[in-house]
Amino acid sequence: MVAKTFFGLEEVLRKEVEEMGGKNIKVLNRAIEFEGDLALMYSANLKLRTALSIITPIHEFKATTPEELYERAVGIDWGRYLNLHQTFSVHAVVHSQYFNHSQYVALKVKDAIADHFRNKYNERPNVDKKDADIGIVLYVNSDSITVLLDTSGKALFQRGYKTQLTQAPMNEVLAAGIVLLSGWNKIDPFIDPMCGSGTLLVEAAMIASNFPPNMLRKRFGFQNFKNYDALLWKQIVDQATSQIKRELPPIYGSDICPDVIQIATENIQNAGFNKQIKLTVSDFRDYVPLHPSGVLITNPPYDERLKSDDINGLYSDLGTSFKNNYVGFHCWVFSGNLNALKKVALKPSQKIKLYNGSIEGSLNGFEMYEGSKKLVHE
Ligand SMILES: C[S@@+](CC[C@H](N)C(=O)[O-])C[C@H]1O[C@@H](n2cnc3c(N)ncnc32)[C@H](O)[C@@H]1O
Repeated sequence: MVAKTFFGLEEVLRKEVEEMGGKNIKVLNRAIEFEGDLALMYSANLKLRTALSIITPIHEFKATTPEELYERAVGIDWGRYLNLHQTFSVHAVVHSQYFNHSQYVALKVKDAIADHFRNKYNERPNVDKKDADIGIVLYVNSDSITVLLDTSGKALFQRGYKTQLTQAPMNEVLAAGIVLLSGWNKIDPFIDPMCGSGTLLVEAAMIASNFPPNMLRKRFGFQNFKNYDALLWKQIVDQATSQIKRELPPIYGSDICPDVIQIATENIQNAGFNKQIKLTVSDFRDYVPLHPSGVLITNPPYDERLKSDDINGLYSDLGTSFKNNYVGFHCWVFSGNLNALKKVALKPSQKIKLYNGSIEGSLNGFEMYEGSKKLVHE
């Protein structure tokens, strides 16, 4: 199987796969390759916090021309993977001197699948580009073509709890990856003083309570597969449910905007953590933690999607707030605005390059201890 992720989260995902029992693990670019059985495929979809999707190879062949590609693809016994009444989609990733248009490659194979069925039954399954029952992925590397099935269906960051979006919400996979990268011990208090739609808070609560990130999802791609084993899936879900911890460390979120807190409240309620996560409306400058130590992780505006009047001033005030209010805390700031991030004006103890979609960002960690008040300017 191949689990795809964001740039910078490969090592976190490798660890997750290892802990779940994946074998022969290899780290690839924005992906992890591993081996495992059907049970592991189901568990991977349910439990991997930093995977965007999990795909599994079904065929490999060689081709150097579109005609050869079509001939090889039409010959695959597609009836093993989908039936006439299921919709399908084909997505291609191409690194090849023989093929240069991924959409053309996808189109050729889509035609081959349709013709394969038409030749046999005089009928063909329909394509659904957005929400297909069976997602087919092609990896073209030079003349070597790997055909894979998407076992996840919709991307795994679509956990099912975010029914309301704010202007600049964080991707769930990225948020989970950041919480895991921070090394939070799941015991100390956790704070996000610019919580937006509440993604970091919910992902932190899920991590601390062992709650599988995709427990609330209604559907996975593998449930449309011919070999879908509903009993095995139920056993995996039941076992994961029995390992959920009810007790959580204190988790706090706040945001300056009351409407945003309303949205966060709804999302947190959807995820079932409304009793455990405490929310307030506040400017981070006025927010003082109730605990003498803990972890703060936040994702301030970048000035990209969310305009801020004085973005440099905001980051500078964040540094001041850390110095004045968070001595004893490990503070982490993820931002796609690398210049503004410098205005925090504290020496980061960690700097991790990550991507939020196409935006390059950095996760900077600041250990706040008594001496930090004097420790300024990078
Ligand atoms: C990039 S968004 C955070 C996104 C969030 N991680 C999520 O998953 O939705 C930044 C948030 O900072 C909030 N914000 C801006 N200035 C603030 C301030 N002075 N104090 C507290 N929150 C602020 C905005 O209202 C916005 O919700």
